[in-house]
Formats: sequence, C-alpha cells, structure tokens
Amino acid sequence: MGTVERFAKSHGPADVNAMAKPVLAVLRGRRQEQVPIWLMRQAGRYLPEYRALRREAKNFLDFCFTPDLALEVTLQPIRRFGFDAAILFSDILVVPHALGQKVSFEEGEGPRLEPLRSAGDLARLSTDGFVGRLAPVFETLRRLKRELPPSVTLIGFAGAPWTVAAYMVEGRGGTGFAAAKAVAGANPAWFATLIDLLIEQTVLYLSAQVEAGAQVLQLFDSWAGDLTGPQRRIWSLEPLTRIVMALKTRHPETSVILFPRGSGEDYAEYAKIPGLAGLSLDSAVPLDWAASTLAPRVALQGNLDPALLVSGGEPMRETAMKILETLGRGRLIFNLGHGIVPETPPEHVSELVELVHGWRG
Ligand code: CP3
Repeated sequence: MGTVERFAKSHGPADVNAMAKPVLAVLRGRRQEQVPIWLMRQAGRYLPEYRALRREAKNFLDFCFTPDLALEVTLQPIRRFGFDAAILFSDILVVPHALGQKVSFEEGEGPRLEPLRSAGDLARLSTDGFVGRLAPVFETLRRLKRELPPSVTLIGFAGAPWTVAAYMVEGRGGTGFAAAKAVAGANPAWFATLIDLLIEQTVLYLSAQVEAGAQVLQLFDSWAGDLTGPQRRIWSLEPLTRIVMALKTRHPETSVILFPRGSGEDYAEYAKIPGLAGLSLDSAVPLDWAASTLAPRVALQGNLDPALLVSGGEPMRETAMKILETLGRGRLIFNLGHGIVPETPPEHVSELVELVHGWRG
C-alpha cells in the first residue's frame, strides 16, 4: 500500500488531497521536508492592496461581512507571497456583534464595544439566530475553498472565550483588562455565565466554518497572558479544552490550533488537551524548552518576533534560522509570535518566505 492509500485508509478518501497541503500534513503528524509558513494577520494594513480595498467598505465590520471584499483580501497575501495557508478574513469581535452587542472599530483606535457589566446586560445578548447572522463569513469560506490553490490550507478562526469576554466586559483593548479581571474575581458566577455562553456559541460558529470549508481552526487567546495561575486555568485552559473536545467530537478530521499568547510554562498544560493538533508560540517561549516539552505532543507554530519583521536584515534572518534549526526537524509551521504590524515592509515578508522555504533540515 502506497503512502496516499495509507493516508486515505486512516483519514477517509475525501482527504487524499490533504497529502498535498503541507500545513495540514504537519498538523496531522507528518513533518515536511520544506517547512510551511503563514503569518498571523497576513492580510492587513501593511499591504498597499489591502489599504486600497479597505476604502471600498464603509466600516471594518462591513468589510468583514462583504464576501467579495473578504475573499479578495484573504487571497492578496497568498498571491503576493505564496503562503501555505490562507486565514479567513474576519475578526474575533464579529461574535459579540452577532450576539447583539454594539461593536465598532475606530480608525487608529482599535475596537470599541458597549461594555457589559450587569446581569441585565448579559440577558440582552441574544443567541437566537446567532449562526445565521454570521452567514456572510460562511459564504466567504465556501468561495475560498473553490478558489484557493490545492496546496493551500484554509484556516478558520475565532477568539477564545477569555479574550472575547475581556473585550465584551472592558469595552476596549489596551487597558490590561483590569475591569474584566475585576469582574471575574468579584463575581465569578456572572463571568462564568458569559464564558459558558461563549463556549457554546463558539463551538456552533466554528462547526459552521468547518461545514463551509475550513480545514483547520485556530483559537486566539491573545490575552491569556493577562491571567495568572488558577485564573488562567479557569478562564482560559478549561474553556479551550471544552471547545477542542466538542469540535473533535463533531469534526474528528479537523485540526485545531490554540494560541494562548503569554501563558509561559502553562503552554505545557495546553499541550495536554486531548485531540489538540497544534500550539502557536509567542516570541517569549524558549525554543529549546518548546522542542523538549511541547513538540512530543503537538505540532508547533511560530514564533518570530513581529518587530524583527519590521526591522528585517541580519537580526531577522538569524532569529528565523534559530527557529528553523531548533524546531524545523520536527513538526513546524513557521509563523510569527503575534500578528504582523502595519509598519512591516512587504519586502521583508518576501525575504522571510524565501528563507523558510529554502531551508532544509
Ligand atoms: O490574520 C488575518 O489576516 C485574518 C484576519 C484577522 C483580523 N483580526 C483582521 C483585522 C484576525 C485573525 C484577527 C484576530 C483578532 N482581532 C485578534 C486575535 C489576534 C491578535 O492579533 O491578538 C484580536 C485581539 C482582534 C481584535 C482586534 N481587531 C483589534 C485589537 C483590532 C485593532 C488593532 C489593529 O490591528 O488595528 C482589530 C481590527 C483589525 N482586525 C484589523 C484587521 C486587518 C485592522 C482594521 C483596519 O483595517 O482598519
């Protein structure tokens, strides 16, 4: 029996094509001769073609909810750089929006939400028709599935409950989420109701993304680092465990990646979640520790500092090589430790893709 047949036998005939998708193959257990690469926030303001298209939508949410625009903007970095994965163009805050919370994105200021503080605020969230209100996202995925080159993996995503709840309670970012942490500490039953609601709805949302064509799902817990000790376990690790287990029950063929940014040694706890395929490492995670402690359990993604992609040159190349030399002989998907920033010169991205694709372990 050849490799393709063996793969078809273990994963089902519909998945034979997955052999040709390096990102999916790494997540399913097979290291690749050529390390695959995609970058968080690969579609965005650092690209002139993104800025041009962005002007066509009246606001950022409309941009996300217009399949013609979201499709095009997802494809832009694939065409320009030849990334191995496309991540759906949307935002983690479409979930609170679809639950009926007021969400807006102010130019140069980031997201603004009408903060949720009381039991009454929670009761006003509406889960009826929640998935239906996100229909344009699924339309974008269905069209992406048809248009992407066969080697490119299609990634869907959502925010993790803690990170989304933090925005919902705080009303904005950039504050260290003091109000959200205060509420979680002072009124844990209230906060748990919100987290439970987000767990449930996020499973529905991500399942619908899989049904529309997403092959991999990434959960962004970008503010996991703001929690410490038992708080991180309760509000980040446990909710994510429940989501991963629910998704693997519904869609065993789908690979799930978690990004518990800033969680330090607790990365080892996330690595133990049953059925988890991959962990996305922030730039502070020590590479040798990741190789010895995390790599035996899950595929790793990361973790070049986005600031090095801005400055480029020898420091960028040296650090990228260090990542490849330490993790590239295992199951590695090259990425950044956090999203690309708008100041990034696109030429540095081209150089990085060439370096990663040219490396052989
Ligand atoms: O990665 C991609 O290319 C896919 C699209 C994507 C966006 N946001 C588009 C976006 C993804 C995966 C996200 C996730 C997201 N959104 C996270 C988790 C990842 C991370 O970066 O930590 C978070 C915390 C958000 C919330 C959010 N959305 C913030 C804080 C901001 C403002 C900050 C900023 O970068 O402007 C956004 C807006 C946003 N989301 C933009 C983009 C391209 C910029 C908006 C614009 O074009 O005007």
